[in-house]
Amino acid sequence: MKTQITELFGIEHPIIQGGMHMVGYAEMAAAVSNAGGLGIITGLTQGTPEKLAREIARCREMTDKPFGVNLTFLPAVTPPDYPGLVEVIVKSGVKAVETAGNNPQKWLPALKEAGIKVIHKCTSVRHSLKAESIGCDAVSVDGFECGGHPGEDDVGNWVLLPRAAEELKIPFVASGGCATGSQLVAALALGAEGMNMGTRFMATVEAPVHENVKQAILAANELDTRLIMRPLRNTERVLTNAGVERLLEKERTLGDKITFADIAPEVAGVYPAIMKDGKMDAGGWSCGMVVGLIHDVPTVAELIERIMSEADAIIRSRLDRFASSGSPATASVSRA
Ligand SMILES: Cc1cc2nc3c(=O)[nH]c(=O)nc-3n(C[C@H](O)[C@H](O)[C@H](O)COP(=O)(O)O)c2cc1C
Repeated sequence: MKTQITELFGIEHPIIQGGMHMVGYAEMAAAVSNAGGLGIITGLTQGTPEKLAREIARCREMTDKPFGVNLTFLPAVTPPDYPGLVEVIVKSGVKAVETAGNNPQKWLPALKEAGIKVIHKCTSVRHSLKAESIGCDAVSVDGFECGGHPGEDDVGNWVLLPRAAEELKIPFVASGGCATGSQLVAALALGAEGMNMGTRFMATVEAPVHENVKQAILAANELDTRLIMRPLRNTERVLTNAGVERLLEKERTLGDKITFADIAPEVAGVYPAIMKDGKMDAGGWSCGMVVGLIHDVPTVAELIERIMSEADAIIRSRLDRFASSGSPATASVSRA
């Protein structure tokens, strides 16, 4: 399937694996890229520019297909070494960067000069337009359903994607809640040029996370995610567990007086315990409503092949039935 996104990134299928903290290692990114999508290494997960350089080199050993790096800009007491990370990306020859979290304008000149295509992930039409105006090549439009940070506007993809299509000139992909070929077709119909997936890729053979994480995803349904940190205006969609319910109880009790320090035990530094040690009650970890659509742990290649063949079948047979082949009268006769 050729779309503006496959052309932009030189990939076979219009499917991107969004950056995921402590999931987006070389194994994950290479598996997605080898299957014809765009795999993404999560920059901040690596810790230092040197470690990111090593991870990029490791990924190169595992695939000769294009892959990218995610740069998430977050408020932090001690900011990561962004200049060092950008320098490593530029020198590495990587040709795709996914930015997220904040306006990437400061870093665009260096990235663009190196011929890197930048896709900015954001959760609103106004931020998408901003990304377009500063020179991003594409946008990942992340709806309210998404795992991770859906922003504070709470607009689902059913409205957000056609709104983005009304306004944007640069290509965009649907992000948040995506897992199936039917959703890819729907996203294309709503104006997107592909889709970005996070949670779905965690439940694959190659995802480098503890087996308990994959089993938790299989056991969950679409009602099992929670929004945390809303009072701090840093909303995150996570899978519920004992730690998350404890955190939500604090939010209810402390109300407006809550500070980050109050909930730090349930969110700060909990990812290693969850992703590496499989301690599923340790606290909040990003997870989307799409868990309701995840029922197996295929290889990444099986997953992407399934999505693409389902999309193809829907376009060729199901949608074809609805294409008008004449006057409305003819259409109603053929339905009868
Ligand atoms: C475990 C996990 C960690 C994530 N970490 C990041 C991150 O560090 N940076 C980022 O930009 N997005 C992050 N995301 C968001 C994903 O890149 C993607 O936008 C999101 O998962 C899409 O929604 P979905 O999970 O419904 O597919 C994360 C998502 C998950 C599930």
